[in-house]
Amino acid sequence: MSAAPILQVTRLAKHFQGLRAVDEVSFEVRAGELVGLIGPNGAGKTTLFNCIAGALAPTAGEIVYRGRTITGADPAKVARMGIARTYQNLRIFPDVTVYDNVSTGAIGRFGVSLAGAIFPWLGRRRDEAIAGATLGALERFGLLDIADEPAGNLPYGQKKLLEIARALALDPKLLLLDEPAAGLNSNETVALARLIRALRDQGLTVLLVEHDMPMVMRVCDRIVVLESGCKIADADPASVRDDPAVRAAYLGDEG
Ligand SMILES: Nc1ncnc2c1ncn2[C@@H]1O[C@H](COP(=O)(O)OP(=O)(O)OP(=O)(O)O)[C@@H](O)[C@H]1O
Ligand SMILES: [Mg+2]
Repeated sequence: MSAAPILQVTRLAKHFQGLRAVDEVSFEVRAGELVGLIGPNGAGKTTLFNCIAGALAPTAGEIVYRGRTITGADPAKVARMGIARTYQNLRIFPDVTVYDNVSTGAIGRFGVSLAGAIFPWLGRRRDEAIAGATLGALERFGLLDIADEPAGNLPYGQKKLLEIARALALDPKLLLLDEPAAGLNSNETVALARLIRALRDQGLTVLLVEHDMPMVMRVCDRIVVLESGCKIADADPASVRDDPAVRAAYLGDEG
C-alpha cells in the first residue's frame, strides 16, 4: 500500500509526574488503513489517543494530520478537522434520546453558527444537514427504530454502537476506536468486526485499540504494539503474532 500518510506521530511523549505513559513513540497511518494499536494494560494506548484527539497536551513530540501540525490543538478543532473518537468508558447522555446523542456528533461537524441565528434560512440549511447526517448514522447502525428512546435504556452492546454512530455523524476522515469490543458478547463482536472492516473498505482510516486479539488479528492491516509507553513492534498481523518481544510483553497478561 502506498497511500499518503494521513497521520504522522513523531517521538511523541506524555509524562505524568515521573511516569512516561507515552515514551517517544513514532508511527504513521496511511489513508485508508485500518491500524491496530495494542499492548498490555497501562501501555499508554488511551493516553496516545488523548494526545491525538487534543484531550491531552503531549510533553514532547509532534502530531501531523493531513500535512498539518495538530500537536496541542484543542479537541473541538481536531474534531472539525476530521478526527473522531470513541471512549474506553462509555460517554453517552443517558437521559436524552438516541437521536440527540448521535446528533451531537453532527453538530460538531456543522457547528453552531451565529449567521444562522441572524439569517433563519442559513440556520435551516444547517439543521437539515445535521438531521441528514444523524439519520444516516442511525440507519447504518440499526438504531433508527429506537431513535426516540432515552439512550440509557439501551442494552450495553447498542450503547457501544451509539458511540460509534455519534463519531461517524461527524463524517471523520480518521476514526479512533478505544476498545469498541469490550463488554460485547461473541456475536456482537463478530458483527462489530464486520462493521469496522466495512468502514475501512469504504475509505475511512481507522486506528483501533482493542484487547480482543482474534478480532485485531482478523481485521487489521497492520498492528502497532506498545509496552510501558514504548513502541515494541509495528508490522502486519502475522509478524506481530510471531514476534518474541510481543509475546514476552503479553506473557504476564495472557499466558
Ligand atoms: N491522568 C493521568 N494521570 C496520571 N497517570 C495517568 C493518567 N492517565 C493515565 N495514566 C497512567 O499512564 C499509563 C498509561 O495509561 P493508559 O490509560 O494510556 O493505558 P492503556 O494502554 O490505555 O491501558 P488499558 O489497556 O488498561 O486501557 C498508566 O500507568 C496509567 O496509570
Ligand atoms: Mg486504555
